[in-house]
Amino acid sequence: MNNTPRKILVTSALPYANGPIHIGHLVEYIQTDIWVRFQKMRGHQCLYVCADDAHGTPIMLRARQEGITPEQLIARMAEEHQTDFAEFRVGFDNYHSTHSAENQWFANTIYERNRDGGHIAKRTITQAYDPLERMFLPDRFIKGTCPKCGAEEQYGDNCEVCGASYSPAELKNPVSAVSGATPEQRESDHYFFKLADFEAMLKQWTRGGHLQAEVANKLDEWFEAGLQEWDISRDAPYFGFEIPDHPGKYFYVWLDAPIGYMASFKHLCDNTEGLEFNDFWAPDAAAELYHFIGKDIIYFHTLFWPAMLHGAGYRTPDAIFTHGFLTVDGAKMSKSRGTFIKARTYLDHLNPEYLRYYFAAKLGAGVDDIDLNLEDFAQRVNSDLVGKVVNIASRCAGFVSKRFAGRLSETLSEQALFDDFIRAGNRIADHYEKREFSRAVREIMALADRANQYIDEMKPWVVAKQEGEEPALQAICSMGLNLFRLLIGYLRPILPATAEAAERFLGIEPLTWASLTTPLNGHTIGKFKPLMTRVEPKQIEAMLAHSKEDLAAQSPAAEAGPAADSTLAREPIAETVQFDDFTKLDLRVARIAKAEEVDGADKLLRLTLDLDGETRNVFAGIKSAYSPEELEGKLTVMVANLAPRKMRFGVSEGMVLAAGPGGRDLYILNPDEGAQPGMRVK
Ligand code: MSP
Ligand code: ZN
Repeated sequence: MNNTPRKILVTSALPYANGPIHIGHLVEYIQTDIWVRFQKMRGHQCLYVCADDAHGTPIMLRARQEGITPEQLIARMAEEHQTDFAEFRVGFDNYHSTHSAENQWFANTIYERNRDGGHIAKRTITQAYDPLERMFLPDRFIKGTCPKCGAEEQYGDNCEVCGASYSPAELKNPVSAVSGATPEQRESDHYFFKLADFEAMLKQWTRGGHLQAEVANKLDEWFEAGLQEWDISRDAPYFGFEIPDHPGKYFYVWLDAPIGYMASFKHLCDNTEGLEFNDFWAPDAAAELYHFIGKDIIYFHTLFWPAMLHGAGYRTPDAIFTHGFLTVDGAKMSKSRGTFIKARTYLDHLNPEYLRYYFAAKLGAGVDDIDLNLEDFAQRVNSDLVGKVVNIASRCAGFVSKRFAGRLSETLSEQALFDDFIRAGNRIADHYEKREFSRAVREIMALADRANQYIDEMKPWVVAKQEGEEPALQAICSMGLNLFRLLIGYLRPILPATAEAAERFLGIEPLTWASLTTPLNGHTIGKFKPLMTRVEPKQIEAMLAHSKEDLAAQSPAAEAGPAADSTLAREPIAETVQFDDFTKLDLRVARIAKAEEVDGADKLLRLTLDLDGETRNVFAGIKSAYSPEELEGKLTVMVANLAPRKMRFGVSEGMVLAAGPGGRDLYILNPDEGAQPGMRVK
């Protein structure tokens, strides 16, 4: 074991502020957090910082769609993200925002130093422009027909049907996904980071042991293809930082996003006595710097980021640790299957420790995707954690409390077994250090098996009935609890909440790696409480059902609410339908007899609709636009023959019609005077 304390700064990628945290994200934050907790347990100074990635077009448009300012949107998201992370025990030392004074300062400084070094070029480019919205359109906000195969409704620069990639200008019949207008081609000055200036430095860095082999190989391909200049500017309107010497031009979100790592750390330094920014970021800094990321953002972190840092006179990272993507039951997370599971939805149904354990049991140091198989998930948690680990404590604690007033024996009865566990601890530490968490878990579970085997052989429940065998009973149970303590110590980076509860029960200080070698002898423990309950299949079913409902509650067709995931501010006109299709809809005038808030739903109102004698219960996503009082008594139009849909809050028996982009900008249809409840709309 290395005994000199290290100084380590660790980051996870910054989640976008335009959406909630989901279980895919959590692979990364849990992986990073486990590694950080391990380093802390080893006695190192390990600091973990992150932030919300708050800039860019999607955030600007989403805020507009909700009828709020980008600042309001990112404030709400920051709060939601941090609540989710806290409940999953992701223990950031600091969580900041890229929309912060620190980040603006560092973005400007890094840009200016690179500019003064001659690494920024200006070029005029031609780009799609939305004449209605008066904005340039990012590729993903242009839709059209694929120039290769003719598939319609293809976004941006590649076709999902035939896989072709092309420039958005090649799309046939392009339309702006923001307004539906036909984009024009317009010229504008842009600023480019000359990545090729750093080719020699980057080649050396990428082959210098800072990357996983698979990632380094990918980089060789990119070097072969040639390093392109990188467009770091965007035109107004944009939510971001204005470029200092170019009014009306903004830094592209990916310019200031990784700089957010520095900004968050700076914020931490400013609030922490004795923590010096330069000790971690100066070119000769002795501290270690690691970034955990997903495989989709390798280019930004292994090329642009080290080059920008180097060009600005800062140190480069010691390593980028890349992980793969999460699949659920073997497939990409899917909204319709309910496997696009938000962190919040998971938390509503299951203990976060389960997911931390399952991810750890699956994670290695490579970039392979990892699969969350829900059946396997339940089975592993139940058999490993509940069946093996927690079981050891419950098998021993009762006797110690009842027969020995909680007191453990003065010495260990099986020193050799204890020593074996300690030796295994060195291997486990090695696995953690190398991010081979699945190997650490396998090793820990093998130890749990041995501990259970020991208890099986010693049969304390038999010894307990024999007269004069008190010392033997106490010795067996004390030994069992000492083995349990080691297992908890080894699992602590993965299961922080369970470890805390176990420490409380054992009556001990938070475990460190160094403290593990000293057994608990002649010590009094507290009362045992079950540390973890089994995963029940019905909890998983409920979570999946809830996930599907989340999706339904977001779909505009279902409840006339805004599409939370869509960035479309204006819906393009839909394709034509036959008259017969139209007459299938039973549209009726309805009187809103009652409107109420729904506990736990921030977008929905529960409406009781009167259809002349018949009443219907309908959940409508119109809370952002209406208070219940102003709706009661009003006439509106509903689809009366929509199949009833079960939602988290009850069954919705139809839907009311409303118009508008969403948020405050939403208007229910209100028939003219004289219309009566129950009348058919034709
Ligand atoms: N904002 C950028 C990162 C900027 S870092 C300077 C971003 N945000 S993100 O919200 O889309 O993703 C955040 C992290 O979560 C990324 O590392 C991404 O790879 C990871 N994941 C997002 N979805 C994931 C899965 N389905 N599976 C595993 N990781 C995933 O990218
Ligand atoms: Zn195509």
